[in-house]
Amino acid sequence: MPTTLEKTLAGELQQLIETKQYKRANEIQAPQGPRTVMDGRPVINLSSNNYLALANHPKVIAAGKEALDKFGLGTASVRFICGTMTCHVELERKIAEFIGCEAATTFISCWDANVGLIPTLAPTKEDAIFSDALNHASIIDAIRLSKAQRFIFPHGHLDELEQMLKTAKARNKLVVTDGVFSMEGDIADLPRLKELANKYDAQLVVDESHATGVLGETGRGTAEHFGVLGEGTVQTSTLGKALGGACGGYVAGSKTVCDYLVQKSRPQLFSNALPPTVCYGSMAAIDVLMTEGSRLLEQLRANVAHFREGVRALGLKTIDGITPIVPVIVGETPTAIAMQKALFAEGVFVSGFGYPVVPKGEARLRCQISAGHTKEDLDECLAALKKVAEQFPQSRA
Ligand SMILES: Cc1ncc(COP(=O)(O)O)c(C=O)c1O
Repeated sequence: MPTTLEKTLAGELQQLIETKQYKRANEIQAPQGPRTVMDGRPVINLSSNNYLALANHPKVIAAGKEALDKFGLGTASVRFICGTMTCHVELERKIAEFIGCEAATTFISCWDANVGLIPTLAPTKEDAIFSDALNHASIIDAIRLSKAQRFIFPHGHLDELEQMLKTAKARNKLVVTDGVFSMEGDIADLPRLKELANKYDAQLVVDESHATGVLGETGRGTAEHFGVLGEGTVQTSTLGKALGGACGGYVAGSKTVCDYLVQKSRPQLFSNALPPTVCYGSMAAIDVLMTEGSRLLEQLRANVAHFREGVRALGLKTIDGITPIVPVIVGETPTAIAMQKALFAEGVFVSGFGYPVVPKGEARLRCQISAGHTKEDLDECLAALKKVAEQFPQSRA
């Protein structure tokens, strides 16, 4: 006999199916790449965060295999209980060197990094957290874990943020933002955010998950993009996107902040560390970025410009910008899901997103460009988009 809870859940699932909002994950049957195999058919992949095409890079794979032989599969416990492996120390040193900050502390994901950082730095109701309304779900959940006062400012409205900072009475103040917003593909105004954080004695925290390895001349992210590299900011980011695409996240900043997290952050204290394969694979990805980055970034930028121009020329509704996240806004969730299906039939894999991931009425296809795509790949995607958009006039600007 199903329990009451199971009946409630089954009812909700049925409703998702009936309203065409039920998500089915395609099965990816080959390594992650600009072209891959899904559900038995070859596709061009327009829906991965593999921005530099390093997920299946020979140096990254070789490094992962080396780590497996050297350190085995994992730590079999929490770092402070069973010891920190050399591969974690090496990875954290490399991240700090790459970012240009004093220290870094790794977590099993950037989700965990945000959840491990935000409530730890601002735990009590004497503290205050100021957060952009379109920040990533992991930031939203991290804030929910804290008892601090919450101030959510409308996306990018920094005058409103300033008003909130002016009036809030708090001990520790955190201003939290995505560097690149994951659904819009736009970039936070970091110079102004830094200025406000300085003016009101707040700590700026930037989630660089979609900016690391993507923005800035050498891929160091949003601060490099704006020419404001330097001390003062705490950043979180992922190893699961441009930097190899496996999993893992980190907090990078001052020695004091990182040391405090090692002492107090609950995911550090109660959860296993990264697998050694991921440590070495991610280190190899950072090495590739530091040595061959200019070629990869040039290719990525040329691809992004070509694709964005193509989307505009098709008359599709998009959000202008320079990042590899190129949304095509189509309106309602069932339209996004139906377009995703139609594109898949044309050999293009791109995910449709609807409410509550994005605001109601702004469902979208989120196209993501990689340095690994060729111009021919992107032209094929644009041709498929043109064909499918003709069946769905809602996607027109
Ligand atoms: C802005 C942002 N922060 C955090 C995360 C979570 O990263 P991870 O997959 O490493 O947990 C994501 C992933 O989608 C993201 O886009």
